[in-house]
Amino acid sequence: MNQVYEKLMTCFESVKKKIDFVPKVALVLGSGLGDYGDSIQIEQVLDYHEIEGFPVSTVAGHKGRFLFGYVENVPVVIMQGRVHYYEGYPISDVVLPTRLMRLLGAEILFLTNAAGGVNFDFKAGDFMMITDQISNFVPSPLIGPNEEKLGERFPDMSEIYDKDLQEVIRCAARELDIPLKEGTYVQLSGPNFETPAEVRMCRILGGDAVGMSTACEAIAANHMGMKICGISCISNLGCGMTDQPLTHIEVQETADRVAPLFKQLVTKTIVGANKLLEGK
Ligand code: HPA
Repeated sequence: MNQVYEKLMTCFESVKKKIDFVPKVALVLGSGLGDYGDSIQIEQVLDYHEIEGFPVSTVAGHKGRFLFGYVENVPVVIMQGRVHYYEGYPISDVVLPTRLMRLLGAEILFLTNAAGGVNFDFKAGDFMMITDQISNFVPSPLIGPNEEKLGERFPDMSEIYDKDLQEVIRCAARELDIPLKEGTYVQLSGPNFETPAEVRMCRILGGDAVGMSTACEAIAANHMGMKICGISCISNLGCGMTDQPLTHIEVQETADRVAPLFKQLVTKTIVGANKLLEGK
């Protein structure tokens, strides 16, 4: 038996004993968005600790729980706190929650994060819609025996970030009058921030933003056939692009400052994404 799959099913069965909610959209909250759940109609809450075998995040300030509820009548599951590869978990554990949300019914995965800008056109506080990604600096979550029930061995990656959902995000930003950048997200392992040379490397490779999450989750979700979209809050410029050293506090402060706008963008995107699912 495939151990990764077995663990996933243990978690799934543990959740099903407690939760009967069927989400359409799965939302992963990045830095700054942690309290997004306060503004939605919550039906059920499930702490990660309550799920048998579930990886629990150790990052200070990251709450670890699933919220099940409605964003303007759209049934959603929200991950309040994600698990990062740098915490020491195997990459299969890092993407277990993503897979679980798919098994619970979510068809769309909406990824958010705080990221460093490596594109000189960006500034702290910008939003970047993710159009593509580079993830080769962390192991693929699909390494190991393939579980055909989840997806195929060699999944196509030509359009991980769904083109229609990208258009939904563009429209949402336009309607809210929020300037929107677009670009490629590079996932590095962290937890150290990049050196100036690594930031240059990301730029030379074609990256626009760099962070420590997201791309692995998108790979696992794409494997399972989900429609994916993502937005990065550019919380800072990459190391070496300014004279200032970078701190986690700066990342958090910028993410918190622009959070009200980010929340509006997330809500409008979810409503638009649901219309897309319903074929309206
Ligand atoms: N690098 C990596 N991850 C990040 C950054 C950064 O500059 N900012 C926020 N998350």
